[in-house]
Amino acid sequence: MLIAIDGPAASGKGTLGKRLADHLGFAHLDTGLLYRAVAAVLLNEGIPLSDREAAAQAAENLDVAHLDGPDLRGAAMGEAASVISAYQPVRDALLAFQRQFGSELPGAVLDGRDIGTVVCPNADVKLFITATPEERARRRHLELLRRGEDVAYTSILADIRRRDERDMTRATAPLKAAPDAITLDTTALDADGAFLAALAIVEKKRSKT
Ligand code: CDP
Ligand code: CDP
Repeated sequence: MLIAIDGPAASGKGTLGKRLADHLGFAHLDTGLLYRAVAAVLLNEGIPLSDREAAAQAAENLDVAHLDGPDLRGAAMGEAASVISAYQPVRDALLAFQRQFGSELPGAVLDGRDIGTVVCPNADVKLFITATPEERARRRHLELLRRGEDVAYTSILADIRRRDERDMTRATAPLKAAPDAITLDTTALDADGAFLAALAIVEKKRSKT
């Protein structure tokens, strides 16, 4: 079984994806980390994010087995990831790994921006997670504080709005709900509430197959 989760920044995709995967015994891939890791290569080597060829090269050479690092989940990397993720060759280079991950048994959960539309259009369940920009900024603010990054709320809100706009309007694999996705507005839900609502959707689908 394959579960695709898409949605804007800090909507809770990763948290939900991990909870669902743990509960179901499935593999989980936070695909945003792939783009963040590519951006990190450029930033660490002092290469401008506007260098499309270097970005594509970094994506092709990415060591997908070691996707972590203290800076990867920081605010600066999210913004940088959004810039290089608009380059088609970068997306192309990361596609095969994501699709292969989607065939993991007994199941897989992938979260990102284009999972239900491009990476796994045949996913069994497609969820599109939303929340108001203000609520998402509030969540990200708390999350960054926990990580020791004290970024102003207003700056996070501005970053989220800019990133959503860029992700939704780019020519390649823009952020949007697949026609067969179920939208879950989590503005008034905590992480437990979002998990229970999503699990009910997944269980309903499982009982039919
Ligand atoms: O992956 P994405 O950027 O969409 O969001 P996340 O990193 O999973 O979640 C951002 C923060 O919001 C985390 O600290 C979560 O604990 C929190 N949160 C959530 O995930 N879901 C809710 N319904 C409410 C809060
Ligand atoms: O956690 P958050 O939602 O803030 O960001 P993320 O999921 O880690 O993604 C960072 C950036 O990578 C996004 O703003 C997108 O531009 C890009 N991305 C993408 O283009 N396609 C994906 N499947 C996942 C992320």
